[in-house]
Amino acid sequence: MKDSLLLKAYSENDFKRIGEKLLEQLSVHLSNTINENNSKVINWNTPENELLFWQNFLEKGNTEDFFNEIIQRTTHTHHPKYVGHQVGATAPITALTSLVSSFLNNGMAVYEMGMSPTAMERIVTDQICEKIGWDKNARGLLTSGGTLANLTALLTARKAKVSHDVWNEGHTKPLGILVSEEAHYCADRAAKIMGLGEKGIIKIPVTVNFNMDVQKLETAYRQATENGIEIFAIIGSAPSTATGIYDDLDAIGDFAQDHNLWFHVDGAHGGAAIYSQKYSYLLKGIEKADSVVIDGHKMMLMPTITTALLFKNGADSHGTFSQKADYLLNDTDHEDWYNGGKRTFECTKNMMSLHWYVLLKFYGEGLFDEFVTRQYNLARDFEKTLYSHPNFELAVAPQSNILCFRYINEQLSDSELNHLNSKIRQTLLEDGEFYLVQTKLNGIHYLRTSLMNPFTTITHLKGLLEKIKTVAKSF
Ligand SMILES: Cc1ncc(COP(=O)(O)O)c(C=O)c1O
Repeated sequence: MKDSLLLKAYSENDFKRIGEKLLEQLSVHLSNTINENNSKVINWNTPENELLFWQNFLEKGNTEDFFNEIIQRTTHTHHPKYVGHQVGATAPITALTSLVSSFLNNGMAVYEMGMSPTAMERIVTDQICEKIGWDKNARGLLTSGGTLANLTALLTARKAKVSHDVWNEGHTKPLGILVSEEAHYCADRAAKIMGLGEKGIIKIPVTVNFNMDVQKLETAYRQATENGIEIFAIIGSAPSTATGIYDDLDAIGDFAQDHNLWFHVDGAHGGAAIYSQKYSYLLKGIEKADSVVIDGHKMMLMPTITTALLFKNGADSHGTFSQKADYLLNDTDHEDWYNGGKRTFECTKNMMSLHWYVLLKFYGEGLFDEFVTRQYNLARDFEKTLYSHPNFELAVAPQSNILCFRYINEQLSDSELNHLNSKIRQTLLEDGEFYLVQTKLNGIHYLRTSLMNPFTTITHLKGLLEKIKTVAKSF
């Protein structure tokens, strides 16, 4: 046993030594990135070279360098010039809860394999339900990401609304859902997984402002019904991913009520605005929803991946995966809320409720208000700056912290501008000072920023525009 690899892998001394060094490295990284000391947002490498590096490292690299290399060779979300994807700079304390979750490794499927995190999950999801404006019948759960949560919600919707028992008998008639053409692609994927097929995903066109055109709902619904499709759900985006524009949840909620449809709100990104005293108006009507998704790892400062899926009527959530309609009672006469695995896709999942609980306990929900409000304010400042620059054009005035804009030059056609903006983005990526992304809207190539970092200021964003102008002129 003396030379046992198992003993080595479980050495308390190694754990402490490596862990203390890592904590020191991450603290320095935190300070260096936030303060922009000698660090780029991304040290770009091609996939082939990165693969080669890690193949070589596995063979010849020094174990002592492992964590440092990882830190250097990943995108620095804590850097204020990180304005790219919708994952953000984790509040450091939630990295510690990640560590605790990984170490204690309770599987969460049944109560006794995660007693405390199960209780915390109930507490945090109850609080979100209350914030949405629901009563005590509401219940939530935490699951691994918005994609999975949206699929889970649609399965619950089918169980609750469809006239026949698809879960047990399979499809006996075509089913469908209504969704904006700007909804996240996971809605489409969920519908396909559920066997609705292309015909069952009825895409509602958007207005010039990229939100669902609610005027078109009635006709779309009637046409689908006349074609023999049983529509059972409608999804509102809060907001949609590409543009960050919120659908009119109030109007969609009314439509759902009038047609007895399940109303699901995909608030993966901007559902967190329920905490913002200034911007919660964007979610007007969310209380009419039957289910809501909010990602902790997007606008709530938590690490990937943790998502709250909330149900107005908790009993519905017990029916999602149940074989029979016996969901409320489990050999007992009270609600079986504490055996999470019965209501989630996952059997085993991590102790993600720790992140939500620790932020509430240490800082309170004011933290979410401060963060969302700050980032949404910043987007409006950036909007003003963009309007004042003749070389830039916005796709649409921002509602959240997502902005799509492009570099323009009157002498170039749209197709030349598309090419130019695509080259600008690639150059910025390889340069690494800033990190932003891109999207296409109505055939136009836009640069896209999600202002996820709490240390990004308007000065950084003005610097980004200057950089883009310099890059554009270099071609
Ligand atoms: C509106 C919306 N829904 C769902 C998702 C998917 O969420 P996740 O990445 O947590 O699976 C995203 C991701 O960007 C999103 O923006």
